[in-house]
Amino acid sequence: MDAKKKTRVISVDGRFPQPKVINFAAREILHGKLVAFPTETVYGLGANALDEIAVNKIFIAKNRPFQDPLIVHIGSITDLHLLVNDIPVDVYMLADVFWPGPLTFVLFKNERVPNNVTAGLDKIAVRMPAHPVALALLRSCRVPIAAPSANCFGKISPTTAKHVIDDLDGSIDLVLDGGSTTIGLESTVLDMTCTPPRILRPGGISKEDLEKVLGPLTVHDGRQSIEGGDAEETPQCSPGMLSKHYAPRAELILITIPNTKSALKKMRQLSKTKICEGRIVGLLLADEEKCFFADLDLQIITIGSQLQKESIAKNLYSGLRELDEKGVDLILAHDFGKEGLGLAINDRLRRASNIIIDK
Ligand code: TXA
Ligand code: MG
Repeated sequence: MDAKKKTRVISVDGRFPQPKVINFAAREILHGKLVAFPTETVYGLGANALDEIAVNKIFIAKNRPFQDPLIVHIGSITDLHLLVNDIPVDVYMLADVFWPGPLTFVLFKNERVPNNVTAGLDKIAVRMPAHPVALALLRSCRVPIAAPSANCFGKISPTTAKHVIDDLDGSIDLVLDGGSTTIGLESTVLDMTCTPPRILRPGGISKEDLEKVLGPLTVHDGRQSIEGGDAEETPQCSPGMLSKHYAPRAELILITIPNTKSALKKMRQLSKTKICEGRIVGLLLADEEKCFFADLDLQIITIGSQLQKESIAKNLYSGLRELDEKGVDLILAHDFGKEGLGLAINDRLRRASNIIIDK
C-alpha cells in the first residue's frame, strides 16, 4: 500500500454496530484491503484469510516475520469446516462452552488455507470472537478473517483504535473504532493436535476453566523456544511465545517475589537507587499500592484492584503504553499471582520484561 495514504478511521457502535459501517468494512476485506477491528481481547488487523495476497499485506504492515502464523477468525462454528477437515469432539465441547470468546484452537488445516496464513505449518489457529463488531464483520463478509493483534510486531497489543493508529497509521486501509476492548489480553491458544491438549499461550480463558471441561492440562513453557529447546516441544513459529514480546519502549524490570509486601519493598528500594542514577522511573501498580510510593519522584500508573484480575488485565497494555508516553526510561512492575487471569497477566509481563528479580 502507498505509505503516504491516510488510514481511514470510522466510529462504530461497540454494542449495536451500524450495518452500513459493517458492510463497508466487509467490502474492503473482500477487496483485499486491511481492516483493523475491535475484538473482546485486543484490536485485530484483518484480511481475507482465503486471499493469499491480502494476507501478505498483514505481514508487511506489521513488519511481522513471515514465519509467524496468524489466527483466523470465524463467525460461526460451521465455518470451521472451511478450514479444518477433521474436527475433534473435544473442540465441539469446548466451543459449546467458550465460543464465541477468547479461546483459539490449533488444529490440522485443510488444503483451502493459503500457506502464508499458517507460515507453512500444517496446523491452523482458529477462534470465534465474541465482540459484536467482529462478529458482525465476519458475518457480513462471509469469509474467515486472518487477524493478528493490530500493532507493530513485538510491541504492545492495542486495546483502543488510537493505539492502532499510533502504530499503523498510513500502513493499513481502515480502522473500525468500537471503543476499548473489554478483556484487554489476547485469547488463550490451545493446541488440540496433541493429547492431552496443551496451552501454548495463556489468555482470556483461564486454565482452571478449561480444565473443568478437559481435565488436567499442561502449559507450554515459552522460554524453551528461545533457549533452543526440543524442536518437537517448541511449535516452530509462535510469536506470542518468543521471550521478548508485547514490550514497551522503556526497559522493564519485573519483580516476581511471591509476597506482595516484600515485592513492594523491593520496588521502593530499586526506585530510589534508579532515581539516584538519573533514571526516569515509572511504576505499574494496583490501585491500593500507590500510597507506598507517595513520597518518591516517580510516574505512577494504576491499573485496577489486586482483587480484580479482570481490571488488571483490561488496563495492563494501556498502562504500559501510558508509561511510554510519559517518557519514562525504566518501568518497574510486579506480577499478579498464577490463578485465573493472573497466569496470562504474568506471561505478558515476563515477555515484556528485560530483567526479572525473584528475591
Ligand atoms: O486475542 C487474540 O488472539 C488476538 C485477537 C486479534 O484475536 N489475536 C492475536 O494474534 O493475538 P497474534 O498473531 O498476535 O498471536 C497469534 C498467536 C501466537 O501466540 C502464535 O504463537 C499462535 O497464535 N499461533 C498462530 N498459529 C499457530 C499455529 N499454527 N501453531 C501454533 N501457534 C499458533
Ligand atoms: Mg500479537
